Amino acid sequence: MAFTKTYLVTGGAGFIGSNFVLYMLKKHQDIRIINVDSLTYAGNLENLISVQDDPRYVFKQIDIRDKDEISRLMDAEKPDYVINFAAESHVDRSISDPGAFASTNVMGTVNMLNCTMACWEANGGYEGRKYLQVSTDEVYGTLSLDELDSFFYETTPLSPHSPYSASKASADMFVMAYADTFGLPVNITRCSNNYGPFQFPEKLIPLMINNALDHKELPVYGDGLNIRDWLYVEDHCKAIDMVCSEGKLGEIYNVGGHNERNNLYIVKTVIDEVSKAVDDASINEDLIVHVEDRKGHDRRYGIAPDKIKEDLGWFPETKFEDGIKLTIQWYLENKEWMENVTSGAYRNYYQTMYGARKKA
Ligand code: NAD
Ligand code: DAU
Repeated sequence: MAFTKTYLVTGGAGFIGSNFVLYMLKKHQDIRIINVDSLTYAGNLENLISVQDDPRYVFKQIDIRDKDEISRLMDAEKPDYVINFAAESHVDRSISDPGAFASTNVMGTVNMLNCTMACWEANGGYEGRKYLQVSTDEVYGTLSLDELDSFFYETTPLSPHSPYSASKASADMFVMAYADTFGLPVNITRCSNNYGPFQFPEKLIPLMINNALDHKELPVYGDGLNIRDWLYVEDHCKAIDMVCSEGKLGEIYNVGGHNERNNLYIVKTVIDEVSKAVDDASINEDLIVHVEDRKGHDRRYGIAPDKIKEDLGWFPETKFEDGIKLTIQWYLENKEWMENVTSGAYRNYYQTMYGARKKA
């Protein structure tokens, strides 16, 4: 089979990365995807069982910080596109262990940039090639609840607050530095909060679904009025595909859907939908417990996606009301997936993160 393009995707066994691999192989028949993932607690090859024997797909267990292994792979594959999803992605973990975030998110990105540049320089140059960094709206810092008509634009100054967002902002600055200094063809996407299938239950929505099904307390940080801008993961995948093939070189694109909701609204929606889906009235708001707030908790994120809409015609196709039903349905149909990811180290994680958290 003749392949038109080879994509080297890092972090493809994680939540968004695995959704992206599945989305791309379904949408494009003639591409090849090399998935590079070191399989941390967040990487799960079970997400990719449906494509593991697909001749267009290859998995390599490699750490993005490993210069020798990444260089060897790049020289063998000579990818047209490099898309860097791999990261430590959970804000709470970054508060307990900031160093791991600096190491993977900053040094791992720098290694990916160096290896990509060296490979393309030795193999035909930059023409028709691109490095895409998957970043986050959290690099912009926080918006206030008093001005709900203010949003993050691509020109909003970077002002990260958590070790996670500081590491992602730093990685973004390296990516732009490689574009400015070496002429590396790059794009950065900065997306808002994703939800959907295969999300690890350390993040708000799958954690609440899992706890609700187990009739466990639903821990809401602080007053629960913090706002996030929720996007169904497939819409994010579509945006990355479009930016990769059509994005203007050197540009940053915000991705989000003007779907701002506060955390209490999200938790109450999950309760309502789960309780209806399993017909169990004991899954109700009595399970909500307000607990000690996250340190440095950003109050509000709100993405202005005007540029990606105007330049590339992207828009979020999935309404939150539909996306949340699809997500809950997926978790109900994949109980084994949830059992597998919560059976081992997750228990210690949950105990450490929530056991000592005082009730507010
Ligand atoms: P995730 O934690 O679910 O997955 C991360 C993946 O990266 C895992 O498969 C893990 O094994 C892999 N990985 C981690 N360290 C690695 C290393 N050193 N070498 C190789 N692989 C490594 O994360 P996610 O939620 O899918 O996020 C993916 C990317 O999207 C991240 O860069 C994140 O910052 C960004 N992002 C996430 C969201 C969101 O809502 N989840 C929103 C915007 C941007
Ligand atoms: O905005 C994009 C970012 O969204 C991504 O860059 C990150 O990788 C991703 O983890 C996510 O970060 P958040 O911190 O916004 O997501 P999280 O699901 O951890 O939390 C969402 C909100 O819910 C936040 O205000 C904290 C709150 N929360 C979270 C958990 C896990 C709770 O109230 N209780 C909880 O138990």
